[in-house]
Amino acid sequence: MDPTRDNPLIRFATFWWGIGTFLIFALLLAVIAFFSRKPPETLENVVAKVRYETKAKVEQAQAANLSKEAIDSAIPAVAEKLVASKPAAVEKPEQVVPGTPTAAKIAAAPAVDTAAIDVAPTADLPIDPAVMEIGKAQFLVCAACHGQNGEGGPIGPPLAGSEWVAGPISNLIRIQLRGLHGPITVKGIEYNFPVPMIALASQTDEQIAAVLTYVRNSFGNKASAVKPAQVAALRSEVGKPPLTVADLTKP
Ligand code: HEC
Repeated sequence: MDPTRDNPLIRFATFWWGIGTFLIFALLLAVIAFFSRKPPETLENVVAKVRYETKAKVEQAQAANLSKEAIDSAIPAVAEKLVASKPAAVEKPEQVVPGTPTAAKIAAAPAVDTAAIDVAPTADLPIDPAVMEIGKAQFLVCAACHGQNGEGGPIGPPLAGSEWVAGPISNLIRIQLRGLHGPITVKGIEYNFPVPMIALASQTDEQIAAVLTYVRNSFGNKASAVKPAQVAALRSEVGKPPLTVADLTKP
């Protein structure tokens, strides 16, 4: 080494120059890092970004909406099309709108002949256990209002020991097909529930016959079976307004 440089003072200065240069670079890097800082890409940030994009798109779409004038001017053409279109055929009683000509026509239909259905059976025929099984399954619907054992409850009168249940079959079938509005006297007590008995006409003829047969031969009741043909004979009742006691044959 050059002996002139081997001087403690020069060595000391060189050392500090080295440190200084190093610190200047470090500071430069720190400044660059500080100014190129970005918030971390968390999942929340990514989602928020998508949300803002969607919001912008929705706002754009809303801004492009039809003006009130455009809608007003389109109404006559649309209305004309609607009026000219043929209404869909009414296939179920629930589709009949109350107060329409169809509803009036159904309500004005001639009274059904119940006498042919209410003829007393000549022999005490045995009850088919298979029919009782179907009826028992179907009775779950009734049990909601009339109680598990037909004992009646806060929303339905008793079926056990009811003179209506043991009485004319046509009453029972028509109650299923049209529903029933109280008041009605069962076993000497007058019932009038806030919610009337609804029509359960969506059941098949077999189901109605089976549930009525079941009710007529359970909970201590004993009466003749109801046949699907008897239900079928009264199907024209479907869609008529709910029955009141005045519409029923006295048991
Ligand atoms: C939504 C509740 C409800 C359901 C479900 C219901 N009923 Fe009724 N039922 C009534 C009400 C309520 C009355 C009495 C009429 C009134 O007070 O408006 C009645 C009356 C009757 C009557 C005549 C009165 C009597 O106690 O003998 C019979 C029979 C009858 N229902 C049978 C049935 C059968 C069978 C079923 C099932 C297929 C059934 N009901 C399902 C509520 C219901």
